[in-house]
Amino acid sequence: MPLFFNALEAAAHRLSIVPPMFDYFNALGLHALIAAARMRVFDALRERPSTCDELAATLNLDPRSAEVLLRVLAGLGYLRARRGRYRLTRTSRLWFTTDSPTSLVAGLEFWERTACVIWPRLEKSVRDGSPATPFYALLESDPELSRSFQAWTAAVARRQAPATARVIPVPRGARQVLDVGGGHGLFSVELLRRHPDLRATVLDLPQALEAAADHPRLVARAGSFLEDDLGEGYDVVLLFNIVHGLDDQETARLFRRLAAALNPGGTIVVGDQFDDSIMPGRASRTLLGLLDLNYRVAAGGRVRGFREVARLLEGAGFRRPRHRRPLRSVTTELAVARR
Ligand SMILES: C[S@@+](CC[C@H](N)C(=O)[O-])C[C@H]1O[C@@H](n2cnc3c(N)ncnc32)[C@H](O)[C@@H]1O
Repeated sequence: MPLFFNALEAAAHRLSIVPPMFDYFNALGLHALIAAARMRVFDALRERPSTCDELAATLNLDPRSAEVLLRVLAGLGYLRARRGRYRLTRTSRLWFTTDSPTSLVAGLEFWERTACVIWPRLEKSVRDGSPATPFYALLESDPELSRSFQAWTAAVARRQAPATARVIPVPRGARQVLDVGGGHGLFSVELLRRHPDLRATVLDLPQALEAAADHPRLVARAGSFLEDDLGEGYDVVLLFNIVHGLDDQETARLFRRLAAALNPGGTIVVGDQFDDSIMPGRASRTLLGLLDLNYRVAAGGRVRGFREVARLLEGAGFRRPRHRRPLRSVTTELAVARR
């Protein structure tokens, strides 16, 4: 939730003149955003920048409560107010209108439930190091939650896939891609678009595969990457946002099995967050810390450094791991290595 302190506010916060109210009300900011997206506030304002009264009439809302909600959304950077009319910012247009290709709206239920069901168990997780929930088993048993999670990850992937696909070294003559835990399959789809001779297999759990993209050169295969046969003869393996959910033993074993599944000279791409990157600032470092806590409480995983992932790759027989940062963002960095 973006907060924009001016110098006086920052000083008041530092001097602790009042209790740290933002910490509590940040959480309410997330719920304000979710409520607005659900009520189609962003869709309506994309159609027509409006005053509070106009918007309240269009969406059948209580005008005074709608006014407060709009002011809060403007304060958080999701709307801009000019001469009494509210309009979208680039952020809300891109991420919170329903039919934007990168819409996060269908994924909001996931965050609402995560905030209320999983995160309150953080204390237990920090005390004994255990994950609060068997996260993916929970998703597999709850189709609606799974759909919402996949919608969220798909929206993020749509934004990231073109830049990542550009830097993935596909070996000459390559034919087969294995997208491990690929879910929606959009990282593969972008690679297929750039390389017409490639075919891809997305390996994921059955419920997750409901979200798999429909593409003539992509097949979805239900199974567990921890337990089931991975197949063989692949030229490229994608592992996007997977190893942060695994412990070290599981990661090392999966890397070894993938080395065996790849053809000699094949490429493995681990897309994840790395905590030894050059961080652009305090907000990014804090975000990475929060992601780390999230992986611990939700899945029993963690954020690793690139160097640590590189060592695990080398231990499994991969050569010359390279660090790539196609988006200049801490949320998706790549470790790329050859078998
Ligand atoms: C964080 S999501 C990442 C999805 C996609 N790769 C991306 O980066 O957008 C993790 C994916 O791994 C899948 N997954 C988790 N455990 C798995 C397992 N044991 N076998 C197969 N897939 C699994 C989940 O269903 C989910 O789709």
